[in-house]
Amino acid sequence: MFQKIFFVFFFFLTTVVAGCKAKQTELADGKQLYNIHCSGCHGVKGDGNGPMAKYLFPKPRDLTSGILKYRTTQGPVPADADILQTMKVGVPGTSMPGWDVLKQKDWKNLLAYVKMLSPRLARGSSGKTIDVPEEPKNKTTSAAAGKALYGNAGCVACHGVEGQGDGPAATALKDVWGNPVIPRDLTHGPLKWGNSGRDIYRSLWNGVPGTPMPAYGATFTGTQLWSLVHYIQSVQQKLPEGYDPSNPKRNLIKINSVAGELPDDCSAPAWQNIKSAPVFLKPLWSEKGEVEWVEVKALHNKKEAAFCLSWEDDQVNIGLTMSDAVALQFPVKPITNPVQLPYLGLGNPGNPVDVWLWKPQGAVQLSAVGVGTQRGGRADEQAVTGNGVYQDGRWTVVIKGPLEQRNPKATRFAPVGYLSFALWDADIPKQLGLHSFSEWMIYEMEGTPAK
Ligand code: HEC
Ligand code: HEC
Repeated sequence: MFQKIFFVFFFFLTTVVAGCKAKQTELADGKQLYNIHCSGCHGVKGDGNGPMAKYLFPKPRDLTSGILKYRTTQGPVPADADILQTMKVGVPGTSMPGWDVLKQKDWKNLLAYVKMLSPRLARGSSGKTIDVPEEPKNKTTSAAAGKALYGNAGCVACHGVEGQGDGPAATALKDVWGNPVIPRDLTHGPLKWGNSGRDIYRSLWNGVPGTPMPAYGATFTGTQLWSLVHYIQSVQQKLPEGYDPSNPKRNLIKINSVAGELPDDCSAPAWQNIKSAPVFLKPLWSEKGEVEWVEVKALHNKKEAAFCLSWEDDQVNIGLTMSDAVALQFPVKPITNPVQLPYLGLGNPGNPVDVWLWKPQGAVQLSAVGVGTQRGGRADEQAVTGNGVYQDGRWTVVIKGPLEQRNPKATRFAPVGYLSFALWDADIPKQLGLHSFSEWMIYEMEGTPAK
């Protein structure tokens, strides 16, 4: 009997200890990921005051406050699944990148760490799921009713007559952290807090916590809320074909294989049948008229890779100090697990990035281990070329470089690897110069590159 009790007790104790250890490893791994990838914006303590914060608008969230905006439940704090969702897809139209390239285990570790930063998050209850009734079938009639309701319900004061986020009250709005908050232009998707009909319904039902966006769940019926959703969808610009903001495939760039020389010009026949991938950019300082999308096509011929990048820009800027520009960024070290990725903002100490930068004056290759550390290599190590054309309000730029490079600070292409994009739009000058950037994305080479 005693033996049995002892055994049960011992078993209990080892499970508890193992459980605590697992939690500690989760937190330690989460902290490491957080410090590399998140603290630059959210700050080491999570208070939203990282070194990048002064260059960003909207401001990185004070994660210690435990007030999160994306929620599919009615309680004071979001469910774990909701926090994970924002971490995976990011916040469109802001600098908050999505981390879909990481793995399930890494998200769990990050989640554990983020929850630890805020007692409110760790303790609060997420409550019942918001009930979204079935979507009415006749969207046209519903949208017309929604348009009338949008006009009568006071939405116009903040979101503007056309929904562009420019109502008379818009510039005076502040959030609970004391920062100005501007509603994302409802005509431009993807919306910040989910872009599907059900997501928009929930944003209306719950409002956006921490901001002046009211919760309308108790004011309007399900049919009325759906009518507002349909109205918003009817004024929303179409997203590029096939683009789904919450699908990890949004981050995939295929490098197609071709024989022969790679073209220097996006209009060359070699590009004609290549499907372009729309890459959605994250602005540092969000404002009207910014470049939101860059279309990317990629080719390789077993020796070199070429990227055709194109974007709409209503004004061309070719200046000595300020000009339009675009760049590709690659990790230098081979990445076998995405946790090894360098910091998105030009790498971090010990984890360099190789930058292929094109400006109208020409292309350069830079190496960096963090913001402000970027350096050009020796002339004989410069292996990247570029060629850009501005026509009909659109830049098209080809950037080309070898798959294998002699320079030890350069990337070596693998069958599957990582890259990200950055864009400078000199009509909208920024403190850092840089206008916007993409999340870490995955490239896949068609056929294996020759060694
Ligand atoms: C380049 C800056 C930047 C980086 C890097 C960054 N964030 Fe953010 N993050 C933001 C900004 C800006 C917001 C606020 C967006 C808003 O409210 O409009 C935000 C918001 C959030 C939110 C709140 C979401 C909600 O529902 O309200 C969470 C959680 C978060 N970030 C977690 C992370 C984690 C975890 C990482 C690292 C894996 C990270 N962030 C990296 C800029 C950043
Ligand atoms: C007092 C000002 C105010 C009023 C009134 C208001 N909103 Fe908002 N709304 C905001 C702000 C501010 C945000 C953005 C919060 C954020 O994302 O940080 C927002 C966000 C939203 C979003 C989510 C957008 C996204 O990017 O995910 C939707 C949808 C929306 N509002 C629709 C409406 C509709 C429809 C009405 C009227 C029934 C309305 N709002 C009334 C201020 C307001």
